[in-house]
Amino acid sequence: MPKHYLMCRPEHFAVEYAINPWMDPEQGADRDTAIRQWEGLKAAYEELGHQVSLIDPVEGLPDMVFAANGALVVGGRVYGAKFAHSERAAEGPAYLRWFAERGYATKEASFTNEGEGDFLTLDEVILAGTGFRTDKAAHLEAQEFLGLPVVTLQLVDPRYYHLDTALFPLDGRNIAYYPGAFSQGSQEVLRRMFPDAVIATAADAEVLGLNAVSDGSHVVINVEAQELQLELKRRGYEVIPVDLSELRKAGGGPKCCTLEIR
Ligand code: ARG
Repeated sequence: MPKHYLMCRPEHFAVEYAINPWMDPEQGADRDTAIRQWEGLKAAYEELGHQVSLIDPVEGLPDMVFAANGALVVGGRVYGAKFAHSERAAEGPAYLRWFAERGYATKEASFTNEGEGDFLTLDEVILAGTGFRTDKAAHLEAQEFLGLPVVTLQLVDPRYYHLDTALFPLDGRNIAYYPGAFSQGSQEVLRRMFPDAVIATAADAEVLGLNAVSDGSHVVINVEAQELQLELKRRGYEVIPVDLSELRKAGGGPKCCTLEIR
């Protein structure tokens, strides 16, 4: 089943502020390398037969490449993002406008949330992260707007500040995740809901290996996540490794660059 993704070319990408532990403004990041790596990710999706739409990058919004944070789209309904940090605040309206102009039913959020960074959608449930960025009140707001049950998960490690840095859906029913990113109670919830999940190692998590995108049979994943790739292959998935090392300097990977339109 072909997917539809929204992406944003990193034309204004930079690491010039630090809002997560991966970002070091002194070290910065190379825009041309980021653009080249991002083009590789876009090409990978297109080779798999997925449709990629583009939103115009906005000058002064260096993190806008991380489209996953721009909204949450389920069944053509678009729940807008409301960013936790002022540096990214203008991205919310920019993404919501893109959808409104194309006739989607949009909802401006009343509570802080960073879109698919903290909301991951399965067939019958949305998994939602909180602890660093997204307010728990937004979980209820999303549930009421989208009509899917939302399960709150508590993130506890600042390196894994968004849910999508620690967990990804393999398909509509199963997931892969790194337990160390979650509170004890949330680990228990995940074990109960997904007894058959792929459990990632700390080494996989440290290269943002969980920030992956699966279409149900292919998994687009950071090339450095070696153990996780092996386990995915063992489970019968086709693994598509990508190099997004420059974008990782801002704390992002393949999933962060990808907003699914469903
Ligand atoms: N620098 C961005 C931030 O900290 C990275 C966002 C990564 N996106 C994601 N979906 N995890 O907000």
